[in-house]
This record gives sequence, C-alpha cells and structure tokens, in this order.
Amino acid sequence: MYLRASEYVYRHNFNRQTDEDTINPLFNEIVSSLELEDVIDTTGFAGITVDVPMGYWRKSNMIHHWFVNNLADGVDECQPITVRREDLETLKEAIQLSTSSYGLQPYKIFIIENAELRAKLQPAAWGQSQIVDASHVIVFANIVNFGDQEIDSYINNLAETRGIEIESVKGYADFMKMKINALSVEKRDVWTSKQTYLALANLMNAAAELKIDVTPMEGFEPEAVNEIMGLKELGLNASLIATIGYRHNEDLTQHYAKVRKPKSELFINL
Ligand SMILES: Cc1cc2nc3c(=O)[nH]c(=O)nc-3n(C[C@H](O)[C@H](O)[C@H](O)COP(=O)(O)O)c2cc1C
Repeated sequence: MYLRASEYVYRHNFNRQTDEDTINPLFNEIVSSLELEDVIDTTGFAGITVDVPMGYWRKSNMIHHWFVNNLADGVDECQPITVRREDLETLKEAIQLSTSSYGLQPYKIFIIENAELRAKLQPAAWGQSQIVDASHVIVFANIVNFGDQEIDSYINNLAETRGIEIESVKGYADFMKMKINALSVEKRDVWTSKQTYLALANLMNAAAELKIDVTPMEGFEPEAVNEIMGLKELGLNASLIATIGYRHNEDLTQHYAKVRKPKSELFINL
C-alpha cells in the first residue's frame, strides 16, 4: 500500500477580487526545472500534478483496513484514498489549548509520520506495534531545566496576546521565577513532564469526539527515544508517546468491558 501526497499546480492564478489572470510562478518553475517546455502545453488551462511518495507498507492488513473502512466507506478497489488532514488539525488545536501550570506549556510536541524514524523508535518503545502501524505517532517532550528564559517568553506572549505592558505583569513573572527556580533541576523536570499528561488528556478527549483512538504510551525508554530524536540537544526529554488512528470496525478491544475500580473504592466522601 502506498501513501502519497498529491497537489495540482495550475498555470493560472485567477484573482476573483481583481479579475486578474496571472501566471503561477510555481508552475513555470516546475516546467523549467523539469525541462518540460517542449513536452507539454504550457498555455491555456494547463496544470501539473506533483505527486510525492510518502510511505509504503506490505502485509499490513490492519493499516490497509483502517484506510478502507475509515476513509473509503469500505470500498476496497486499490483506489486512491485521501486522509482527513483537518482531523489532525483539530487534535493539534486541542493539544494547543490544553491547560498547564501557570499556563506555561513547558513542552514541545512532535507529530511523526516519517516511516524511517518510526521504525527506529519501535525497539525503543518495547517493540510495540502501534509505533509503526498507527496513523501518527505523537511524542510529548518536556522542557528540561525549565527556567527564566521560558518564563520571559510566556510573559511576552501574554502581553502581546492581551495587549498589555510587560511591566504590568512583572510581578507575576517574578513570582513564577521565584517558585520555579526554588525547585531542584530534577523536581523541575518532573513538574514539566507532568504537564504533558494534561495535553495528552485533552488530545484523548478531542480524539474521542472524532472517533479517533489514542494509545497513550509510557512503555518506552526515554533515554533511547531522546537519543534517536536528538532531544537532549534541544533541551527536551521524551515524557509521553501517543499513537493515533481511526478505529477499525473489527478491533475487538473496543467491545471489552472497561475495568475500573468501583466508585465505593475510588471516592472518599468527607
Ligand atoms: C500514561 C499511560 C501510559 C500507557 N502506556 C501504554 C503503553 O505503553 N502501551 C499500551 O499498549 N497501552 C498503554 N496505556 C494504555 C493503558 O494500558 C490502558 O489505558 C488501560 O489498560 C485501560 O484501558 P482502557 O482505557 O481501554 O480501558 C497507557 C495508558 C496511560 C494513561
């Protein structure tokens, strides 16, 4: 099964506002770089489809069925199937809007489609198959040794977003710096890592709305993932992984009864 990114590049850029009909420079660039002048009609309504291979799977029935059932209404005729990119954007927005301590969002999030990287990550994730089988792998990486620089960056964003003077929130910035700098580096790293779980929870809730399944994963060796992704050099640490994908109709686990503590054991009323 092949995954391809495809884009149709028109020769004309028609601007509805000005009624202007201009030539798309990208079209000309492609024509000249591929030396297509003599081969194709470069006038009129010409266009070029740029089609780039992005992935290839063999003997991967789960993935094949996932595409067929979720993106092709069950029609399996080796026809091209398009992935809903807007669903991914919705999930990114849910992560972006996550709450965090002081609002500092002390993490970066990697969304991985690259098959080569995923194959490298799989052994570091206890060999779990969803690393290579899922639609996307998301790595939540907490910022290590979080400090003044990140707090200043948050304050700048706050002042700009709300249209206020930085000076007016200096007290808040100093308070955060005082509290966070008082923590040992280890405690700070634990604290930033904890924040990634909130982002994960938001991702899971948004995904459930879209009928997308998420497997949260702590089953990996952070040091190995850091090494493979070069996270240490970026001042980051792999805190959590989540794999996402549309639910397969035949996935039996979806029908399993949830195993949860009874409320009487879980809650304590005082
Ligand atoms: C933080 C966290 C880490 C998890 N790590 C893994 C993992 O590495 N691999 C896996 O298959 N499931 C993992 N899970 C999924 C749990 O095993 C699963 O949510 C739990 O068994 C309950 O299943 P349910 O939510 O489907 O009822 C993890 C869940 C959480 C919340």
